[in-house]
Amino acid sequence: MSAFPTRRLRRLRYNPTLRDMLAEVRVGVDDLVAPIFVKPGENVTHPIASMPGQLQFSPDTALAAAGRWAAKGIRAVLLFGVVERKDSTGSQAWADDAPVQTLTRLLKAELPELLVITDTCLCEYTDHGHCGLLVETSPGKVDVENDETLTLLGRAAVSQARAGADMVAPSAMMDGQVAAVRQALDTEGFSRTGILGYAVKFASGMYGPFREAAENPPQSGDRRSYQMDYRTAGQVLAEVQADIDEGADIIMVKPAATYLDVIAQVRRQFDAPLAAYHVSGEYAQIKAAAAAGWLDERTAAMEITTAIKRAGADIIITYFAEQIADWLGE
Ligand code: PBG
Ligand code: ZN
Repeated sequence: MSAFPTRRLRRLRYNPTLRDMLAEVRVGVDDLVAPIFVKPGENVTHPIASMPGQLQFSPDTALAAAGRWAAKGIRAVLLFGVVERKDSTGSQAWADDAPVQTLTRLLKAELPELLVITDTCLCEYTDHGHCGLLVETSPGKVDVENDETLTLLGRAAVSQARAGADMVAPSAMMDGQVAAVRQALDTEGFSRTGILGYAVKFASGMYGPFREAAENPPQSGDRRSYQMDYRTAGQVLAEVQADIDEGADIIMVKPAATYLDVIAQVRRQFDAPLAAYHVSGEYAQIKAAAAAGWLDERTAAMEITTAIKRAGADIIITYFAEQIADWLGE
């Protein structure tokens, strides 16, 4: 046997052109969806402390931001509403003049090519902060009621579709939510409006910063009676199958970086288009470490976003969208 290794994998790595030629996965701006938090009012650009670089907007400033992003090649946004007027049913979710609906109309009028996806849930609009209606299940105990919530999610989706949303994204994790939203949309004549189903959404500690951004923390309890338990990978198949059977056009796994195994599993088992949501806490981790000088932000953000794509996601919802567009454009 020779004293030298005969298998030379490093010969594939010396030359940057060869490295690029051999790259199997590349993130492109076409893959990205940029989230937007929109409040009532005008001229609002309120920094979200736990998500450095992210802002709460009013419809006018959100439109301007989306225009800047579109000029950099970003082609899709996901809208979340932030409202002061909250009540027990979350009625601002289906108010035609609520911030999400107002911004949707503006975006479709001014940037008609931009794909507008609206989050369809109640937690941003309920005074108790849960994703559905609360009922008393035993004396002194409340929980989110499933089937009555479905009606309200349908109403919210119809209001968003009426404003011009290209896709709605039911995220409440109620059983049957995709079917209910599909039926409500079809009944009202919105058969062309698509559904991005949050098929696999885990009860996650990674949503912390989002709750500041969307001002929607549960006032009591947590979301574990409706979001998935991260110890139960066995329910992934059932959740995805249910969303597909109910008519979801695209399915989603969320969070993303913490669940690359789940993304890969869904990719292997289903043909449906797959989105993954790199969530607020996953973003904040990189931002905080970069701010401390502990890692290089660009390298880390590109690596994790590429990993999400390599795991099998077609679409990546990420707060890094604008920065990635800048980096790719350099
Ligand atoms: C709730 C919702 C959550 C996110 C989006 N919609 C999480 C939650 O409060 O349970 C989280 C997104 C993020 O963390 O970036 N329907
Ligand atoms: Zn919710």
